[in-house]
Amino acid sequence: MKTPLVLFGASGLLGGELLRLLDAHPGLELAAAATRDGGSLSAAHPHLAVAPVAVTFDVANERVLELASSGTVAVAYALPHGESARHWLALRTRLRERGVDANVVVVDLAADYRLRDPDEHHATYGEAHADPEGLHEFVYGLPELQRVAIRGARRAAAAGCFATAMQLAVWPIAAAGLIDASRPLVLSGITGSSGSGAKPAPNTHHPHRAGNLWAYALKGHRHEAELRQTLSTTTARSAAIAFVPHSGPFVRGIHLTAFLPLRAGVDEAKATTTYATCYANEPFVEFLGDGAPDLRRVVGSNRASLGLAVRGATLTVCLTLDNIVKGGSGQALQCLNLMLGFDEAAGLPRCGLGVTG
Ligand SMILES: NC(=O)c1ccc[n+]([C@@H]2O[C@H](COP(=O)([O-])OP(=O)(O)OC[C@H]3O[C@@H](n4cnc5c(N)ncnc54)[C@H](OP(=O)(O)O)[C@@H]3O)[C@@H](O)[C@H]2O)c1
Repeated sequence: MKTPLVLFGASGLLGGELLRLLDAHPGLELAAAATRDGGSLSAAHPHLAVAPVAVTFDVANERVLELASSGTVAVAYALPHGESARHWLALRTRLRERGVDANVVVVDLAADYRLRDPDEHHATYGEAHADPEGLHEFVYGLPELQRVAIRGARRAAAAGCFATAMQLAVWPIAAAGLIDASRPLVLSGITGSSGSGAKPAPNTHHPHRAGNLWAYALKGHRHEAELRQTLSTTTARSAAIAFVPHSGPFVRGIHLTAFLPLRAGVDEAKATTTYATCYANEPFVEFLGDGAPDLRRVVGSNRASLGLAVRGATLTVCLTLDNIVKGGSGQALQCLNLMLGFDEAAGLPRCGLGVTG
């Protein structure tokens, strides 16, 4: 019997991508897809062979309560940040009243449960956390760094898209203690328009976006907080971080370049061995040595692809991933697979589309 899944935020980009991935999943089946108003999803997601009819959040909550009373149920929140915590807090209270909250396995695709410290969350997102007590239940959902913790957890906060790119690019050399923390980590990333969600906005409108490129958040991007949190366990914890994101003229994908200060004596051979060893057994990280990945390699897949070069005392890492898959719904599904005891790769595409939009 398949495990039922209830999805909140089914009309959004990540909701639609999760529905697409679920269609090929061997162990999960959609029990309810929810939007605020309910109704057909065929206009929002014409790419789905069978687009479900969405129920309202109230109906979906009742469905979770009913399913949890007789076994395990998976819940995914693909909502704007702030909304996941509000909705999960209310549902968890009702589940606890019935003594069945342990039957619910939750993945949040928003930022609500990614930062351990509620004060850090407040400083980063500009509002007090709606559910500070719930924070301790969630593990950080980046399987390559937190696999063991995710496997034993019932709640995961899928890592952010730029945050995933930054951490996969920086983690091996930082974890090996080879970063010179007296100099800054400099990172530059370009994201496609799908990073801004499904709702049309001036910065996603085609005449403005196509053939155009611009930087934003010059004084700091929210996802830096996730990188800082991860580096806090390494000798690079005191290093300054300078990240500049850009909006690019494509739909899916992130291209990240990281310039990382190396400790004296670390050469390209040492850096290459460090990355190759770290990612040797990762099903969804592809290390190209001194090659540079492009978007075409990864778009549509759950893979991140990276290569490196060392010049003097600086390591340059280039990394690409699909923000909707490895940076979004694919990552969330990878976390669910681990929490539910499925094969980690179940339902997740390893191959890219080959042609990008
Ligand atoms: N896009 C990416 O590349 C990406 C990657 C990683 C993580 N994320 C995060 O994942 C979440 C979803 O992203 P997305 O790109 O799928 O966004 P999206 O396309 O804008 O979808 C948001 C969903 O939330 C619903 N919604 C909007 N306002 C709401 C509210 N006030 N209360 C409850 N529901 C509301 C919308 O449904 P209705 O309006 O139909 O009710 C829609 O289904 C966000 O937190 C985002 O930051 C996005």
